[in-house]
Amino acid sequence: MDTRVTQLAELDLRAWSAERLDRVEQALSTWVAPDGPAGLGQAMRYAVLDGGKRLRPLLVLAAAEAVGGNMQAALRAACAVELIHAYSLVHDDMPCMDNDVLRRGKPTVHVQFGEASALLAGDALQALAFELLTPDDGSVPEPMQARLCRLLARAAGSAGMAGGQAIDLASVGVKLNEAQLREMHRLKTGALLQGSVLMGATCGEVTAVEQQALSNYGAAIGLAFQVVDDILDVTADSATLGKTAGKDAEQDKPTYVSILGLERSRVYAQELLAQALAALDASGLAETRALSALADMVVNRVS
Ligand code: IPE
Ligand code: IPE
Ligand code: MG
Ligand code: MG
Ligand code: MG
Repeated sequence: MDTRVTQLAELDLRAWSAERLDRVEQALSTWVAPDGPAGLGQAMRYAVLDGGKRLRPLLVLAAAEAVGGNMQAALRAACAVELIHAYSLVHDDMPCMDNDVLRRGKPTVHVQFGEASALLAGDALQALAFELLTPDDGSVPEPMQARLCRLLARAAGSAGMAGGQAIDLASVGVKLNEAQLREMHRLKTGALLQGSVLMGATCGEVTAVEQQALSNYGAAIGLAFQVVDDILDVTADSATLGKTAGKDAEQDKPTYVSILGLERSRVYAQELLAQALAALDASGLAETRALSALADMVVNRVS
């Protein structure tokens, strides 16, 4: 294809994201209120606001736009997924899990507010996510609310993030094979990213072919995301990441780098990107430029 046409067809992800990120930040700041008792609201806001790439909300919005979905529902879904993600990070960093002191360039929530407050902030963020998905103002039809809750619950629970985190903790010092590692990553990180795409899609009407293609896209970028997280843990520095680099080797966690090595991990991430883009092609959806730019960002990011 003529390169000029290709370039015109490409989306400026920065410009596309800027407006959506604004909407998400404003909504999160409104919905995560500071007035929770005994400092709980402050700890919740500290965990959620002023930081994070907001990749999951962008995926929800991009998928919803691709299917011509209800954008009020999509904004709620975008924020709900980010709340679950933020809660997972708060708990992931606690001394009983990864014992990390730096997150999003700031002291972790338990360092700043104490362990009990961090635990409760995570709990309350999880509950708030489901409250956001179930407004009683008529803006989101009830069957759509139920579908969104089901997708988020599955992605966050024992068949998703929490289950993957359990495998992660049980695997310290254990030599997993590649299939076991893939399953761990698919659950602990992939499920919520794939869930983000599916939640966006459920804000509109999709055919079975579109649904399957978006599900395949979400699975590929979900796994790719954690492969790249494992790579960056080795190759990037803490200042760039906003979290402590080198933790995986220090804690003897099985990762793509520890099992495949750096070069094969990089190649695998690019293969997953190609799979994600092929799934978008197979979807037959007319406007997938934001989803393809986000897939590229997942794999080629530096933080
Ligand atoms: C970090 O996720 C935790 C993993 C699931 C690997 P992100 O890299 O998306 O973290 P933020 O939201 O940008 O801080
Ligand atoms: C965390 O994986 C995945 C979550 C569900 C939070 P990591 O433990 O690798 O995430 P980072 O590297 O601390 O962000
Ligand atoms: Mg962890
Ligand atoms: Mg961690
Ligand atoms: Mg990591």
